[in-house]
Amino acid sequence: MPSDFDRLVSALRRAKRVSVLTGAGMSAESGIATFRGAGGLWEGRRVEEVATPEAFSADPVKVWRFYEGRRRAVKAAAPNPGHEALAALEARFPAFHVATQNVDGLHRRAGSRNLVELHGCVERRYCVVCRRTEEDLEPLDDLPPLCKGCGGMMRPDIVWFGEPLSVEAWEDARQAARESEVYLVVGTSSQVYPAAGLALVAADAGAEVFEINPEETPLSPVFTGAIREPSGKALPRVVAALFG
Ligand code: APR
Repeated sequence: MPSDFDRLVSALRRAKRVSVLTGAGMSAESGIATFRGAGGLWEGRRVEEVATPEAFSADPVKVWRFYEGRRRAVKAAAPNPGHEALAALEARFPAFHVATQNVDGLHRRAGSRNLVELHGCVERRYCVVCRRTEEDLEPLDDLPPLCKGCGGMMRPDIVWFGEPLSVEAWEDARQAARESEVYLVVGTSSQVYPAAGLALVAADAGAEVFEINPEETPLSPVFTGAIREPSGKALPRVVAALFG
């Protein structure tokens, strides 16, 4: 019996169109905390306190303090071998797409280009009054930051719980899922929808769906196979098996 790793490599050898959905586990080896589980960002904290529009209206400084901590962590971090492997794969396939739930920008920093950031990015913020945007990871000393154009309050360019995804981002990710022959689900607990549903869109459209995650998830039973390893180890192994 071939291992799931071997089945994934064979599927990739046949495929021309490959898509990937990533989550917080993808950046764990870059030192960025995941959300769920021991040591996760949501441990001992309710998402409603910092990751909803209601929380921002009630206490923008508290929400900004949380995101300022995340911005500083992201600034200090670097892409890991998993991010680099995905960027390398993009150059090798006629169609290769990454949809990430991560807001850390590490896929872009690693060189992924056909990329959609479904939940936004901590590098960007926009004015709630005039929608002017700013983009950087420089420390913000005065919270909340104010718009240099109109003086309005800026908010992180993050999709919070209860907010819709951008229609263009969603359509882009959904089309990539529908058209893929192989779909990789990397480092996500597959608990937050609609993003988690992209793997089901791919499976329904006939893709072979492989999970790369040390742990099982609620969607594991419907996938073609699983590589139970950290992505920073598994993805470079995939690149080496295909092109090494
Ligand atoms: N490699 C691969 N997977 C890993 C690694 C690793 N090195 N380390 C942990 N994981 C897995 C965990 O087993 C878990 O299944 O990553 C997953 C992380 O799950 P979550 O913390 O729930 O993160 P994610 O799925 O991205 O969360 C989705 O929820 O809070 C919101 O908006 C936030 O985008 C986020 C969304």
